[in-house]
Amino acid sequence: MIPPTTEGETPIPAVAGPLLRPRRLRRTPGVRSLIAETSVEPRNLVLPLFVREGIDAPIPIGSMPGVVQHTRGTLLKAVTEAAEAGLGGVMLFGIPEHRDATGSCALDPTGILNLAITDVVAEVGDAITVMSDLCLDEFTDHGHCGVLTPDGRVDNDATLALYAEMARAHAHAGVDVVGPSGMMDGQVRVIREALDAANHTEVSVLAYSAKYASAFYGPFREAVDSTLDGDRRTYQQDPRNGREGVREALLDVEEGADIVMVKPALGYLDVVRAVREAVDVPVAAYNVSGEYAMVEAAAANGWIDREAAILESLTSIRRAGADIVLTYWALEATTLLQRR
Ligand code: PBG
Repeated sequence: MIPPTTEGETPIPAVAGPLLRPRRLRRTPGVRSLIAETSVEPRNLVLPLFVREGIDAPIPIGSMPGVVQHTRGTLLKAVTEAAEAGLGGVMLFGIPEHRDATGSCALDPTGILNLAITDVVAEVGDAITVMSDLCLDEFTDHGHCGVLTPDGRVDNDATLALYAEMARAHAHAGVDVVGPSGMMDGQVRVIREALDAANHTEVSVLAYSAKYASAFYGPFREAVDSTLDGDRRTYQQDPRNGREGVREALLDVEEGADIVMVKPALGYLDVVRAVREAVDVPVAAYNVSGEYAMVEAAAANGWIDREAAILESLTSIRRAGADIVLTYWALEATTLLQRR
């Protein structure tokens, strides 16, 4: 209703409706679905899984409700479920009973991760892509991703030689894809060459290319019983640098990476987008433990709609340009997506 005007004032003209109405395409679920730009499919998702040596029942991870350290037996059940749900892959992390300065259990063919790879591949074959974390931090007693110099610095080149051997051990165990996550300079090239020299030309490299020194890995450290004291800021990237993430990804492509990854995902969607535009290989993003724990904790308090927050998180990572999303919600997401 137009308010009465005082003598002499010009009346306000009736508002003409907007000519352009974006809301038209939001009117019904049908039209929203018709025009949706982004989708999340089970095949885009990779489920990270932890297997721990020397336990006979799964151990829950307190800071990651719903995630456990598996026994060798329960790991196989989890991988079978993942394959049946149509997930794109699983990423395996091993937690050994014994740790030492050089992470020797990582190279040992009877080490927990190598045994688990063989078990998993025998169980599911080509039904799902089997990936392995290629890094020493779970295997060293100091918790760093590489070996140390006598004065305690992470020794890049000495570490490369161990990564090369670890890659060969994983390939020998039957893995489809190795995921070097240690952020050593030159790691992709050394791993590619080691694989090729051992006739494992078919094994792919998913490089953790732009991996940031992030507080959001906190819960993961509990998941792998990390012994790290200090931080990884001399090898993982500074969160202030986006351009440098693109540089790291380009270097990895040059060194032979088949897939490049940005990690974490949600705080780094700008980097995901920039990397997607800079490279012509598939791009992955890792929805890390802290991103998982924040939603779970808020939901447990009744502060957030858990299922909607999960789907929105995964959708946002895909919208930013990730072809592949590593997420602890992978299995559950397949169910949520069907209901949507
Ligand atoms: C290192 C590695 C880490 C994660 C994956 N691989 C931890 C780190 O760099 O400290 C973190 C994953 C997560 O937080 O979900 N091997």
